Amino acid sequence: MAAPDMTALPGILESRPPDPGELLPLLTLIQGRWRFLPEEALAAVARRLKVPLARVYAVASFYKALSFTPKGERLVQVCCGTACHLKGSQAVAGALEKSLGVKLGGTRADGKVTLEPVNCVGACALAPVVMMDGTVYGKVTGAAAARIPV
Ligand code: FES
Repeated sequence: MAAPDMTALPGILESRPPDPGELLPLLTLIQGRWRFLPEEALAAVARRLKVPLARVYAVASFYKALSFTPKGERLVQVCCGTACHLKGSQAVAGALEKSLGVKLGGTRADGKVTLEPVNCVGACALAPVVMMDGTVYGKVTGAAAARIPV
């Protein structure tokens, strides 16, 4: 993979005050810009906020929404919580794997889509649930999942 273009990094760093409390907001902005957390950006965040690099990595590792590897342009998440599991989320995940051409937990080789499992998203009444780029879709069937355009 080619090194990411980091020209936007100074602007992102300067968009927030140099306060340690800005660690998570900055990591979120960086994740949003590059769809992952480049090492160079993590080191720059540590310097800007004057916090140990280990702390930056600890916070980055804690939140599932943050990633050390690039995610796809589109993020498709299948809820695998108990209610969704009981309502057939495995079949939905299987249909998505087939139609999107990527295994659950992976990113397609062309970088267009990431398919990942998530725990309960708080919409159990709509089980089984799929989220696409943050939008919740409920009562999804395997057939409907196979028609998701990505
Ligand atoms: S278990 Fe899927 S939304 Fe709660």
